Amino acid sequence: MKKTLKIKEQKILSKIFKKSENIYNKTKKLPKTKFIYSYLISELILINLEIENIIFKKNYNPINDTIKILDYLIYKIDLIKKNNIHSDKTGIKKQLFKKEISHEELFQRLWTNYNFNQYIKDRVWRYRKRIKINNLKKIIKNKKVVDFGCGHGNFLIAAAMEGCSFGYGIDYGKDSINFANKIKNKLKLNKKLKFETKNIYKSNLKSSSFDVAIQNGVFHHLNKPDKAYKELHRVLRKGGYAWLYTDGGGGIRDIIADMSQKILKDISIDFKVKKIRTTYLNNSKQYHLSDNTNAKYQHYSLENYLKYLKKIGFTNFTQLNGGTKTDFDKPFLEDKYFKLKFGSGDLRILCQKK
Ligand SMILES: C[S@@+](CC[C@H](N)C(=O)[O-])C[C@H]1O[C@@H](n2cnc3c(N)ncnc32)[C@H](O)[C@@H]1O
Repeated sequence: MKKTLKIKEQKILSKIFKKSENIYNKTKKLPKTKFIYSYLISELILINLEIENIIFKKNYNPINDTIKILDYLIYKIDLIKKNNIHSDKTGIKKQLFKKEISHEELFQRLWTNYNFNQYIKDRVWRYRKRIKINNLKKIIKNKKVVDFGCGHGNFLIAAAMEGCSFGYGIDYGKDSINFANKIKNKLKLNKKLKFETKNIYKSNLKSSSFDVAIQNGVFHHLNKPDKAYKELHRVLRKGGYAWLYTDGGGGIRDIIADMSQKILKDISIDFKVKKIRTTYLNNSKQYHLSDNTNAKYQHYSLENYLKYLKKIGFTNFTQLNGGTKTDFDKPFLEDKYFKLKFGSGDLRILCQKK
């Protein structure tokens, strides 16, 4: 019974994936004008929002609505193409997507869009909440924590507020690090925290020198994840804890986000980020949609991810809870259609260095 359900789910997912590929191929033939891409970005934002509405309706079968949304997109693409004759024909600036170079530019544009109040309310609270609901205060208190790919520093700021003795954050985004340092100074956390511009692959940190290491939504964006995981493992002391968050994916949500990323990948980042800022969505939605429709993700199943982590040298795995309305960690979100909607879901893993 379970097996036939699995086959049925896979068939539906591959049908939706095929449709998304057809849409991508259709957009490849569109004239590269600002008119076309301006409308296309708006439509992609709208369908990603609507998919979110559908998949977070508990126990609601998402299949018919997803097909309807993709058909709507096909119709809108035809309309946009047809009406390009009325445009001023200004060409769009192309920018070839090169994973790590593009991510460096994208993320610092996004992380620096927060004002102080939004940063504390939108960002720091969610990490303080995650530390609390997962009972992690005891592993952080009076401990040395390193954050690989810290962005604008939100996780370490939260860790400092929850009592870590020292936090060290690295990110290759210079603007994000400057932003993190300004916040650190404003909150008078100078003695507890240090943020530096560095590449993850080369942290230059002493081996076995940290009690806790974090990679929160970072290594699934890399060209060489093995190298990064080995670096994180190296700087952690034996028995030290790793908080790892990586994209599981493989469900409808990911098919739609991946399709959007592919459609927009070679368009200037400046154009895309500015366009999304004119949607008047709240800051948190602007961040997530800019990330999901522009960054490239590697997806893992829980099984493969744990096997992989064991090989790197980690043990004692626990799956953690994201804890916000839009997180989808399987053990904490009961839904009949979970696999179809989210695939493996978010993978937040706490483990220890062997
Ligand atoms: C999705 S963001 C996550 C940021 C942060 N960990 C958080 O949870 O808010 C990914 C971050 O990884 C950083 N990053 C990606 N590749 C990197 C690399 N090779 N070296 C350093 N930082 C990197 C990006 O600049 C970006 O800030």
